[in-house]
Amino acid sequence: MVLPASSRLDFTADLDICRLLVGMWQVSGAHGRIDPERALAAMLAHLDAGFTTFDLADHYGPAEDFVGELRRRLRAARGDEALAGVQAFTKWVPEPGPMTRAKVEAAIGVSLRRMDVAALDLLQFHWWDYGDRRYLDALRHLTDLRALGKIRHLGLTNFDAEHLEEIVRSGIPVVSNQVQYSLVDRRPEVAMSEVCRTHGIHLLTYGTVAGGLLSERYLGAPEPTRGQLTTASLQKYKRMIDAWGGWALFQELLAALDVIAKKHVSTIANVAVRTILDRPGVGGVILGVRLGESEHIRENARVFDLALDAEDLPRIESVVSRSRDLFAVIGDCGDEYRR
Ligand SMILES: NC(=O)c1ccc[n+]([C@@H]2O[C@H](COP(=O)([O-])OP(=O)(O)OC[C@H]3O[C@@H](n4cnc5c(N)ncnc54)[C@H](OP(=O)(O)O)[C@@H]3O)[C@@H](O)[C@H]2O)c1
Repeated sequence: MVLPASSRLDFTADLDICRLLVGMWQVSGAHGRIDPERALAAMLAHLDAGFTTFDLADHYGPAEDFVGELRRRLRAARGDEALAGVQAFTKWVPEPGPMTRAKVEAAIGVSLRRMDVAALDLLQFHWWDYGDRRYLDALRHLTDLRALGKIRHLGLTNFDAEHLEEIVRSGIPVVSNQVQYSLVDRRPEVAMSEVCRTHGIHLLTYGTVAGGLLSERYLGAPEPTRGQLTTASLQKYKRMIDAWGGWALFQELLAALDVIAKKHVSTIANVAVRTILDRPGVGGVILGVRLGESEHIRENARVFDLALDAEDLPRIESVVSRSRDLFAVIGDCGDEYRR
């Protein structure tokens, strides 16, 4: 199986990516046990199917080490050229404190070593507290490290529209912001999309299939109990659904998506992903994968064959328009992470 050309995006002038990224939070330990050998085999299977772009973080358990090991195996088996076909986007999520050059450089050094790369393709920066303005110090040092060739591109994660705008205006060359975005959580549409459009910044989205809740598996199903929500993703997005409008309204959304999916000979998850991929400013959708335990390669590849029509969005809107406004309830993108 090879993905069509429409699966690719010129993310920057020198880096093209798959618009469905492989999310690696699932190897962190919060989603069940992961076997390293099976996980590496699954990473290779995704790569060979055309899912060449991985999303990870310094704190996702062994994720950065898995990228390093994948690269060493690829180099040994296929030569250095094969490495150019892998894009690995990591994050730095520092604890609050002084952001000196030495501290920032040391953190980046760890990721470079673990991932066995000379330069990070994309470093996505997270910050816990806007009251502590030392995020600007950290970002200035990261910009310097980019100039030195240790980072190819600089991104953010979970920044709100106001602070994204501030950072860009202060001259930091940000290419992307990673945020939660799904048919349940549409907060990016309030202000974030417009800031991204204005400054040519890509949104990379997570939670787009709500941990798997946006799928046939939950259509017509009774509300899951806490004990039945067996991964951190399922627990996180079930809480979102509760804040958004509850299980009965969510069932109406699943039913509407099912009608659309059947019409296009597709699936609920594919419709949920396609809708967000088509939204302004969205560069890619990150789909979490329990590597070596569960995968949806064939199904998710079909997102690129799916074209929604003029009836589909109004059908979805007729349900989501009756939900609570999560921007009013929670705040802008990422506000749930602020300390
Ligand atoms: N920056 C941040 O703060 C942040 C936060 C959360 C996530 N992320 C990133 O974004 C990635 C994705 O987020 P997420 O894992 O929270 O949410 P997600 O992608 O909505 O959920 C992942 C789960 O969706 C299920 N799934 C995928 N494709 C499916 C399909 N076609 N049909 C049915 N189920 C399907 C899988 O369940 P099964 O495993 O049960 O098959 C998978 O484990 C993470 O891995 C991580 O890289 C970033």
